Order: sequence, then C-alpha cells, then structure tokens
Amino acid sequence: MTTTALITGANKGIGYETARQLAARGITVLVGARDAELGRAATEKLRAEGADARFVPLDVTDPESIAAAAEFIGKEFGKLDILVNNAAIAGVRDGDGKPSSTELDSLRNLFETNVFGVVAVTNALLPLLRRAEAARIVNVSSEVGSLTATMDPDGPMFRMAAIPYATSKTALNMVTAQYAKELWDTPIKVNAANPGYTATDLNHNSGFRTAAQGAEPSVHLATLPADGPSGVLWGYRWGAGEEYGQLAW
Ligand SMILES: NC(=O)c1ccc[n+]([C@@H]2O[C@H](COP(=O)([O-])OP(=O)(O)OC[C@H]3O[C@@H](n4cnc5c(N)ncnc54)[C@H](OP(=O)(O)O)[C@@H]3O)[C@@H](O)[C@H]2O)c1
Repeated sequence: MTTTALITGANKGIGYETARQLAARGITVLVGARDAELGRAATEKLRAEGADARFVPLDVTDPESIAAAAEFIGKEFGKLDILVNNAAIAGVRDGDGKPSSTELDSLRNLFETNVFGVVAVTNALLPLLRRAEAARIVNVSSEVGSLTATMDPDGPMFRMAAIPYATSKTALNMVTAQYAKELWDTPIKVNAANPGYTATDLNHNSGFRTAAQGAEPSVHLATLPADGPSGVLWGYRWGAGEEYGQLAW
C-alpha cells in the first residue's frame, strides 16, 4: 500500500529536501506549494530524480486552498500517512528589529502563516491522518522558539532579541505539545523538528547547514517507529557536542 506524505512549502529549501529524502525512502510525496509554477517545477525536478511526486496547490493561510488540498488527497489516496508542516516566513524587520520596534501587523502576519496556518492545515487533514495506520505529524520549528535556549547566557540565542519569528516558533512548540496530548492514545505521533541554522532563502542563505542537512530532523520524525517519542522538540543541537537529539522546549 502507498505511503503518502504532504510537505507544505515544498517548492524550495528544507521542504524540498524533505520531500526528496522521503521520496528516496519509497514514499509518495505531495509537494505543497502556494505558487503553482514553482510547485510544478519542483515536482518535475523530483520526478526526474525518480521520485513519486505530485503537486498539491496549498497556501496555508487560505482556507479554500486548504480545503481543496484535503479533498484532493482524500479522493486520490483516502488517507495521509505523514504531514510535514514546513511552510513558514521570517517576516519583515521593523525598525531596528528589537522587541520595542515590533509592529503588530507584522506580528499578526507572521503568526497567520507560522502558527494559524499549521493549525488550519492539521485540522483539515486530521481525518485523513486518522485513517492511516500510524500517522506522523512534524511541525518544523526552531530552537529560536525554545525559552530554555533563549535564556541560556552561554548559548547562541542569548544575544538575539526580536519578537515575531521567535514567538511564532514558541507558539508552534506549544501547538505541537497540545496535539501530541490530544492524540496520545492513538498511533499518531506529533513532534517538532529543529533543522539547525540552514542556508535557505529564509535567512538570505546565511546558515551554516545545507538544506539537505536541515531536512534530516523532519525526515527522522516523519518516519519514527512505533516506540518513538511524541510531543518532543528534536533535531540539531547547536553547540551541544552532539549533532542530533532532543532539545529543551
Ligand atoms: N533556514 C533555517 O535556518 C531554519 C532554521 C530553523 C527552522 N527553519 C524552518 O524550516 C522551515 C522551512 O524554511 P526554509 O529555511 O526552507 O525557508 P524557505 O527556503 O524560505 O522556504 C519556505 C517555504 O515556505 C513556503 N511558504 C511561505 N508561506 C507560505 C504559505 N502561506 N503557504 C504555503 N507555503 C508557504 C515558501 O513558499 P514560496 O516559495 O512561495 O515563498 C517556501 O516554499 C520553516 O518552518 C522555517 O521556519 C528554518
């Protein structure tokens, strides 16, 4: 039977690499993208490499687009095994970027994609995820959203102080924990991935990890065995002396 994975924001960056790596494991990948041209081009590229890839138009801020994607997947596959909520934006920088310069419209806009979009997509697809044998939900988060990391005076996050992106990922971490609890007594596992600082358009390619490396935590969590964890933040541990592992929320 076909194993299917929907990856949001899969036309480039970490999402594209996640689709590529899941496809290499024989999984049918549904390439979610809000721009049809970019989505189709990415899908073609994956198919040229031998992937079983299908393009799914999906803007995570558009309820009609989400409903249409869920309907398409339901009709074509009758279930969904893996959902990777990967799409996100970094947002604009208000003033000097400090908390005291934050504009509420920027904050609302960012939460619309990075938090509300995840809840909307997850809720629309949960009926199909419940129909799979043991679905996996991966929310692509960041240690930038970890309260523990941000207040560690010896850690790399301590010198950063900006509200929108960081708080959106903190909220996403809590969203992840709440879904994990709701689904605790089911075979579905819900976890948050930390890609590590990865060179993509999100940060003008300033990261020190490749997109393929950034995708590894998402792929790991998307393919967890039955005895794997649920409700954890897992991935790259910056400066922890160990490449991958569980991170403090
Ligand atoms: N790069 C890092 O260092 C890093 C570190 C930690 C976590 N992350 C997380 O990793 C994930 C992937 O980011 P990335 O670094 O690969 O960034 P990226 O290259 O900018 O890719 C972001 C993807 O999200 C899509 N997207 C944005 N808004 C969307 C919407 N409303 N509906 C559907 N798709 C939308 C983008 O589509 P368009 O091409 O149409 O804009 C693009 O495909 C994000 O959740 C990000 O927060 C990244």
